[in-house]
Amino acid sequence: MENDSKQQIIKPEHIVIVMDGNGRWAKKRFMPRTAGHKAGVKSTRKIVETCVENKIEALTLFAFSSENWKRPDQEVSSLMELFLTTLQSEVKKLHEQSVCIRFIGDCTAFSDKLQKSIKQAEDLTVNNTGMNLNIAVNYGGRWDIATACRAIAEKVQASEIKTSDIDAELINQYVTLSDLPDPDLFIRTGGEQRISNFLIWQLAYTELYFTDVLWPDFDENEFDKALGWFVNRQRRFGKTGDQVEQANKVN
Ligand code: IPE
Ligand code: IPE
Ligand code: MG
Repeated sequence: MENDSKQQIIKPEHIVIVMDGNGRWAKKRFMPRTAGHKAGVKSTRKIVETCVENKIEALTLFAFSSENWKRPDQEVSSLMELFLTTLQSEVKKLHEQSVCIRFIGDCTAFSDKLQKSIKQAEDLTVNNTGMNLNIAVNYGGRWDIATACRAIAEKVQASEIKTSDIDAELINQYVTLSDLPDPDLFIRTGGEQRISNFLIWQLAYTELYFTDVLWPDFDENEFDKALGWFVNRQRRFGKTGDQVEQANKVN
């Protein structure tokens, strides 16, 4: 118990998840990959619910990367169909729970119908004060940084800022999710230990949790395991462990 009092138990404010392993989950069952994506939606629903119950401030989910267009046409179109039907069936309930929904990524590549649904969900929930749910679609971390660079360059060109004003703090204001706390906890299911071009700027000091569990099998129990792992990290942000322990004793 002495150990517990030393360890500052802090809940993550912002959790990001790479929901990976749907395809392998289906393959193991001799089912088409799309069946894995459908099963993945069920997990997503459960985990969003769990985060709302746990009063997590922000949850960011990687649903479709800028590289996922390289998949077979049939898989891409069934994923698009699944996004649309899931949005249509889930938004009302999320709105009732005061969840604020936002999409990050280049949505211009999507069909007019999907873009319309995305906008409707964002507009409906924009003033909600509950959990921030960010869904990354056609998102890439390099795209995010490049978009920020372009916006900054335009400001310089318009003489609104000077090149000498450009520092990490300024760039931080131009990347996506700049209004939210930096991600505290990154979870990747499916066994791969890589970032896959997700939030590369924002993850600079995030705790990285990898599990072999495939996304359709990731339930509340697995989520609790990730939270349990997180609270045992000592977040030093460059300081020594002794300095952090000292500061925790004072607080
Ligand atoms: C993640 O699962 C879902 C998306 C990328 C849309 P995968 O489809 O990548 O599943 P695996 O990695 O093939 O098992
Ligand atoms: C990352 O998963 C993207 C999503 C989960 C949406 P991938 O399965 O596409 O990642 P790689 O290509 O194996 O790195
Ligand atoms: Mg994968």
